[in-house]
Order: sequence, then C-alpha cells, then structure tokens
Amino acid sequence: MELANLDWSNLSFAYKDTDYNVRCYYRNGQWGELEVSSSNQINMHMAATTLHYGQEAFEGMKAFMGKDGKVRIFRWEENAERLIRSAQGIMLAEVPKELFKKAITRAVELNRRFVPPHGTGASLYIRPLLIGTGPRVGVKPADEYLFMVFVTPVGPYFKEGFSPVKVQIARDVDRAAPLGTGKYKVGGNYAASLLSGTRAHDEGFAACLYLDAVEKKYIDEAGPANFFGIKNNTYVTPKSDSILPSITNKSLQQIAKDMGMEVEVRPIPVEELPEFDEVGACGTAAVISPIREIQDRDTGKVYTYGDKPGPISTKMYHKLQAIQTGDEEDKHGWVLKMDV
Ligand code: PLP
Ligand code: COI
Repeated sequence: MELANLDWSNLSFAYKDTDYNVRCYYRNGQWGELEVSSSNQINMHMAATTLHYGQEAFEGMKAFMGKDGKVRIFRWEENAERLIRSAQGIMLAEVPKELFKKAITRAVELNRRFVPPHGTGASLYIRPLLIGTGPRVGVKPADEYLFMVFVTPVGPYFKEGFSPVKVQIARDVDRAAPLGTGKYKVGGNYAASLLSGTRAHDEGFAACLYLDAVEKKYIDEAGPANFFGIKNNTYVTPKSDSILPSITNKSLQQIAKDMGMEVEVRPIPVEELPEFDEVGACGTAAVISPIREIQDRDTGKVYTYGDKPGPISTKMYHKLQAIQTGDEEDKHGWVLKMDV
C-alpha cells in the first residue's frame, strides 16, 4: 500500500480527510453491524438529542508506526472504559468494549496509508464519537444512537510542540463543576471552554489553566490536558472530580514510578506553584507540553519555569513516546500491536 503524500514532519493538529470511517447504529435496543463509509457527512434527524441537548461523548487516542512497520494503538481499553463511563454519565447507549476495539482497529486498518512513518513525531489520531440521533423535543435521552470512528494524521496539539508554552489562569470562568460532567469526555465541557480558551489564545497563551470551581484555590486542568508539577523527585498531579481522568497522566504516573520517583495525586493549591521545578500539561493530543509561564489574569501574578523543557519532563516525554512507538519494551501491556 502506498503511503499518503503528506508532509509528515510538519503536520499540525488539524482535521484531514482520510479514506474511510466506520459506523454502527443502535436501534430497537441493540447495536447493529459495523459499517464502512467513505463519506465525511452524517445524515440525521434535525431533532436529534446530540444537536439540541448535547447528548454526545467522544474519545481520543493515537496509533503509531513502529520501526518494524507494525502499527500500534496505545491503551485503547482505557479509552473504551472511559467512553462507557461518559455514556453512563449522560445516558447514551453504552458501546461494548469489543465493538469499540473492532471499530478502532478497522478504522486504522482501512486508513493504514495515513499512519505517519516512524520517526516523524506524527501519529494517527483516532476519534470515536457517540451521539444521540433519535428525535426528542422534551429533555430526554434518545432511543437511537450512532457510534462512529474516524482517524486523521496529526502533529503536535500546541504549535510549540515539545517547546514550553504559556498558560493563563482565569478566575471568571469555569469549565465544569465538581458534581457536573467534567469527569466525562462530553462535548458540553468543550463548548463551555471555548470562550475562555479563545480569550487565552487571543491574549497570547496556549491554553486556559482552570481552577477548582468552588474555592478557586486549587489547580484543575490545562485546557484539553491534565496538569502536573515536579519537585523533590515527585510527580504531583491534581485530584479533582471536575477534571477528565487522563490516560496519558495515568501512564506518566507509572513512568514516574518506573523512574524511581514518588507520585502524589492530591489537590494542588495555586500557592504551591512557585515550589515546582517543572510543570506541564499532558494528554493524548498534547502528549507532554512543558509550561514555561503561568500568568494569573486576575491577580497579575506570574510563575516562570524556564524557556527549555526540564530534564524530568524531557525524560518522561521520550520514555512515553518510545513505549508508544515500540522503541522501548511495553512492560505494562499498554500497546496493541496490529497485524497491519
Ligand atoms: N483533559 C481534557 C479536558 C481532555 O480533553 C483531555 C484529552 O483527552 C485530557 C485531559 C487528556 O486525557 P488523555 O490523556 O486521556 O487524552
Ligand atoms: C485528546 O487529547 O485526545 C483530546 O481529546 C484533546 C482535544 C483535542 C479535545
């Protein structure tokens, strides 16, 4: 199969059409057969619950090309389980794990020519999507759903790549409430972050760093990524009910332990920021984005961490990528090595 003709090393995190996507419909209380489509359009009822009441959840994971020419998908089972929790959180039909696996592997296989070559730093982003398609005008869950998966080749989420970014604390906005939907990967959370995220960009920052919605005292997360700080050989990351449980963060906690570091998952007060040697954002799209500066929009306080990625963030970044691409042994069983 001939590789797609793309400038692999200079991809950004932007949508590009590929050859196929896969779809599965939930009707009469059950999932149907997985279908393959070459259209990037969805035809649905104008009263679909996804359009009116945000009954939508999604996932994000990546496939990597190994040196051996085999494609590897990172920790899909975690994403499948998170999609089930999101479905439970907003009453979508749950996608069984086996259907999830079949859909993502099929979507990758069918678009193998878009998997970026090993060594380019790029990957194939996999986007599963679960939406309420049944019509409702009252606020109720739908009776019909569409689960689909598309893929698109991507480079770094933040244009800086692995170069440190600036983020902005803003106290006049919340992305999610502690007993709300922040812990689910549902579209409404992202709609709620658009205003603050766009303002942060316009004011020169890569993302908004959200604080806890109740006391405005603790760090929640960094736009579409979790937050971590490093001090005293310890990896510290927020414990909060309003943030997305990041699979990258979970992996970095294990990598930190493997590197002989301590790990603390606990509330991080803003006052602790000056104590960290390194801070960063982590996520599937963001991978690790070191943070060089945090500006508090309301208090005017500025916290700085240097213009170069710190040594520990750098080591963790390389370790994570080496596991994902198969350059390093997958001793925790995180990687699904495909036959394509
Ligand atoms: N936080 C938010 C709000 C996100 O959208 C994401 C992206 O998925 C993350 C954190 C990172 O999660 P993960 O590492 O599972 O991609
Ligand atoms: C991801 O990291 O997979 C995300 O979903 C982040 C963002 C593109 C929403």
